[in-house]
Order: sequence, then structure tokens, then C-alpha cells
Amino acid sequence: MFPIDLSGKKGVVFGVANDRSIAWGITKALSQAGARIALTYQGDRLKERVEDLATNLKDPLTLPCDATDDDQIAQVFQSLKEEFGEISFLVHSIAFANKEDLSGRYADTGREGYRMALEISAYSLLPMIRHAAPLMTEGGSVVAMTFDASQRVYPGYNVMGTAKAALEHGVRQLAYEFGEQNIRVNAISAGPLETLAARGISGFRDMRHAAADKAPLKRNITVDEVAQAALFLCSGLSSGITGAIIPVDAGYHIMAV
Ligand SMILES: NC(=O)c1ccc[n+]([C@@H]2O[C@H](COP(=O)([O-])OP(=O)(O)OC[C@H]3O[C@@H](n4cnc5c(N)ncnc54)[C@H](O)[C@@H]3O)[C@@H](O)[C@H]2O)c1
Repeated sequence: MFPIDLSGKKGVVFGVANDRSIAWGITKALSQAGARIALTYQGDRLKERVEDLATNLKDPLTLPCDATDDDQIAQVFQSLKEEFGEISFLVHSIAFANKEDLSGRYADTGREGYRMALEISAYSLLPMIRHAAPLMTEGGSVVAMTFDASQRVYPGYNVMGTAKAALEHGVRQLAYEFGEQNIRVNAISAGPLETLAARGISGFRDMRHAAADKAPLKRNITVDEVAQAALFLCSGLSSGITGAIIPVDAGYHIMAV
């Protein structure tokens, strides 16, 4: 028996690209707990793969959503209103930066690359929660994915660190603004995981080894461990938690050397 029961609950997960995506790990955990889930995919390129994965879910919904397109974001929530009526959770697991902005000097980041990284990875949470809130009639939980480079320098992470700092500030600001509606907003700060997005970061392999060496648990984390934390945040067990950045990193963040 699964320890958290979300039967009757519905929600949306943004950010499945393939079966290694953190968003897919979270989707599986939410689905095993009984929740009904809508998955979004970024453009036709990913449509088939996401629809294939969704066949593993009970009564799924799959919808297109490019986070740079306000109309597509609005349409996702219109469809959710029609198909689900209400929702109780939203998972934001998307990020993007140009490959050339994830290596070399941070100082060389161009205006357009900077704008795009911040828009997709941090700003997109705002229109999503704006549209989601009216559907969260009995309160809700919003979970975003972040990384420790918001606070400290990981050479190569560059503009994505800036984007994560903006995202984390957004989590706190939105937790404040939506708290009265009993909508909780939190982020999970995950240790390095081998996913499509991670492949773009220069020196990622070294980062993973360093994290395993230094972390109190002496290992890297797994996607399932992130998924379990997300499940907890989407459930009533976390009812008193909002505006928090929760590290799921084998303890790496507490270490100085
Ligand atoms: N992998 C790690 O080591 C790690 C660690 C901490 C945090 N994170 C964060 O976790 C989240 C998920 O990343 P992942 O590692 O699962 O990689 P992933 O590549 O599987 O997921 C990234 C997702 O972002 C989506 N995306 C990019 N641009 C988009 C756009 N314009 N519109 C809509 N979607 C768009 C992609 O389609 C993809 O589904 C990201 O926010 C990432 O920064 C990852």
C-alpha cells in the first residue's frame, strides 16, 4: 500500500521530455499515489514521446505547452478546467539556457540568452500559478525544481544560477501572495541528476562526482528521492510548509569543504 493517498486529486506536471526527466519521476510517484495527471509537452518534437509515457497513467491528459507562449499556457488551464474541473497540484520542472551560455565566462552572456533563460526557467511560474489558482478551489500545492547554484558558484552553471535565484525568490513571493487561498508554493533543490537538461552543463560529470564525495550520505541522489519529496509536498502531509526551498541532495548543501 502506498503511504500517501492522493486518490480523487488532480493536477498538472510541466517538464516531461523523456523517461529520465525529473518530471516523469514525479509523475510516476503522484500517479502511484492515485492522482490523475495532465502532462504537458514542449512542441511537436516531444508530443509522441510524452503521449507514449502517458499510456502508463490512469486516465491521463496530454497538452502542448511552450512556456514562452502565453496563449498555450492559458489553453492548458482552459483544458484543465474543462476536463478536470479543479486541480490541487502543479509541478513546474522546466528550465532552458542556450548551450553556449552554460560554459565559458558568465560575463559574456548575451542579452537575448539571459532574457530567454530567465523567461523560461523563472518567469514561466508566474502565468502558470495565475491560471492555476482559480482552479485550486480547495487550496493547492505548487512545486518547482531548483539547484544550489542559486546561492553558490558552480563554474559552468552561469546564467542558470541567475535563473534559479530568480525562481527561488519567486517561490517566496508567490507563497506570500497565494497563502490566503491555501495555495502553498515550494521548491525542491535537487542534487545533480543525469538528465537531458543536465547534459548541457559543462563539467556536469565532475559536479556529480564532487557531490557524491562531499555529501554526508557519500553518494548522489536518485530521481525517485526527488519524486518522493514532491509527493510529500503535493500531499496534505506538508500542509504547514510554504515558501520553502527543500534540499534533496544527500546533505551536500551543509558542507563547507
Ligand atoms: N538534472 C539535474 O541535475 C537538476 C538538478 C536540480 C534541478 N534541476 C531542475 O529540474 C528541472 C527539470 O530538469 P531535468 O533535469 O528533469 O531535465 P529535462 O531535460 O528532462 O527537463 C527539462 C524540461 O524543460 C522543458 N522545457 C525547456 N524549455 C521549455 C519551454 N520553452 N517550454 C516548455 N518546456 C520547456 C523541456 O521540454 C524538458 O521537459 C529543471 O528546472 C532543472 O533545472 C535539475
